[in-house]
Amino acid sequence: DSDASSGTDNGGSGDGAITMGFAQVGAESGWRTANTKSIQDTAKAEGVDLKFTDAQGKQENQIQAIRSYIQQKVDVIAFSPVVETGFDAVLQEAKAANIPVILTDRAVDADPSLYKTFLGSDFVVEGEKAGQWLVDNAADADANGDGTINVVQLEGTTGAAPAIDRAEGFADKIAADDSIEVTASQTGDFTRDGGKQVMESFLQSDDSIDVVFAHNDDMGLGAIEAIEAAGLEPGKDVKIITIDAVKDGMTALSEGKINYIVECNPLLGPQLMDLAQKVLDGEEVPARVLTEESAFTPEQAAEVLADRQY
Ligand code: AHR
Repeated sequence: DSDASSGTDNGGSGDGAITMGFAQVGAESGWRTANTKSIQDTAKAEGVDLKFTDAQGKQENQIQAIRSYIQQKVDVIAFSPVVETGFDAVLQEAKAANIPVILTDRAVDADPSLYKTFLGSDFVVEGEKAGQWLVDNAADADANGDGTINVVQLEGTTGAAPAIDRAEGFADKIAADDSIEVTASQTGDFTRDGGKQVMESFLQSDDSIDVVFAHNDDMGLGAIEAIEAAGLEPGKDVKIITIDAVKDGMTALSEGKINYIVECNPLLGPQLMDLAQKVLDGEEVPARVLTEESAFTPEQAAEVLADRQY
């Protein structure tokens, strides 16, 4: 392995501590805020010299940040790609500079030899859990009793791994029940405001929406505002399924405004720092490191809410 020579004293601060460049997506959601805090807190606790940038949701900013980390000769680069495609060139540049890259949270669609490992959730499985819950609770979800379950989907950022994979996993599971149909699907860009606006327009053009599947809690919380403004009761008139399980989402779940949340764990800091250390020590690391996750009903949310860290 040609990168095995890149030990902890290769470049960076020169004092033996690891220097990590981390190019974050942005601050689009409660999940992202918790993820950033986990990475920053762990770096601090473990004496990692962290150079952190926020790409504000723009791929070009993220590429620019990665290029600057290459120029600064950091020991290791980690990033959570805004979208799946378009990172080949900059990943080649990092490889040529002998700087290992760790993908965090989201995948890229590029040659796997361009990064050391990918740490994060299985977004397809998350979408499948959401779809399976709907199949199992279909009878309940048909609010107007017309025999069809009319689902609207609030997608994450177009081209982002979690948006692509969650839609795919959800579609796979609901295919088992002919009465469930996704009648509208549009991006809300993983933000509360985006979810609210898209839901407002869905409600204006369709008065028979039974279910909202939102790719994250924030968009689901925005949808709740739109549903309430339309004089409907979220969780009853319109069932809501989301992904993440951040505190605001879990609060709405415990109040019955959301019906089911699939967990996506943002606390990736400890595993990331551990992987970085191993990579720089020349140890073999698995190509894929999955995070452990569960899912919650309103009753379960009420039980765990007080201890929720984020
Ligand atoms: O990549 C993880 C996703 O990105 C989270 O589910 C979402 O909230 C965030 O913005």
